[in-house]
Amino acid sequence: MKRKKIVAGNWKMNMTLDESVNLINELKQISTNDVDIKIAPSFTNLNKAVSLLDSSKIEVIGQNVHSEQRGAFTGEISIEMLKSVGVYSIIIGHSERRKYFNENDSILSKKAKMAIDNSLNIIFCIGEELSEREKGNHFELIKNQIINGLFGLDKDQIKNVVVAYEPVWAIGTGKTAENYQIQEMHEFIRKLFNDKYGSDISHQIRILYGGSVKPNNAEEIFSLNDVDGGLIGGASLNFSDFNAIVQAANG
Ligand code: PGA
Repeated sequence: MKRKKIVAGNWKMNMTLDESVNLINELKQISTNDVDIKIAPSFTNLNKAVSLLDSSKIEVIGQNVHSEQRGAFTGEISIEMLKSVGVYSIIIGHSERRKYFNENDSILSKKAKMAIDNSLNIIFCIGEELSEREKGNHFELIKNQIINGLFGLDKDQIKNVVVAYEPVWAIGTGKTAENYQIQEMHEFIRKLFNDKYGSDISHQIRILYGGSVKPNNAEEIFSLNDVDGGLIGGASLNFSDFNAIVQAANG
């Protein structure tokens, strides 16, 4: 079955309000019907981004959310706050959240469940460190991240999840995984979904690759059987690279 590709730009902690407005005005020119395009600006720029992209097909998504509904959690952002500015999807479990903010599987599964229960769609990130790959532990680790993070969701809920496989050693390093490493991991992930939720779900679920996707490698990565698009960091911060990556996913 043909799954519609997704190209999602994760802006991380980059872009002031003015810079965001400039980039968004350029992004509006992107033309494609065959790719779901998403951008994840910082929280301070979400409101403006949503209004600028109001009549566009580009979806504005969040980079993170807190697992509690409201309360004394200084500095955090809730699901209702995101929805109140028109954001209905978020990234959960990015390796930088896992590594620098100590978000473990149990926190992430709580976030995933809370988000889905409250009608947010999620892009759930998983990925191994280089040391784990070198020890040969990468399949086991990815399996545990998925089981612990996502498999508490039921069959209806899992339809609102996109998975992003991002080997940590390929993020921001300019080093992409080899095509065979990407394909074998994506196939492995799809099989886990097949075993848990059956073949309909496993054929539908979209699995993105992330980690140094650039205009010069996007097309071959996106042509791999089980790759349904990409989560793009550095190359999402300028129009020409991001547009080229979207076009590589087109068709
Ligand atoms: P990168 O980041 O494209 O800069 O490697 C990807 C990501 O962190 O999602």
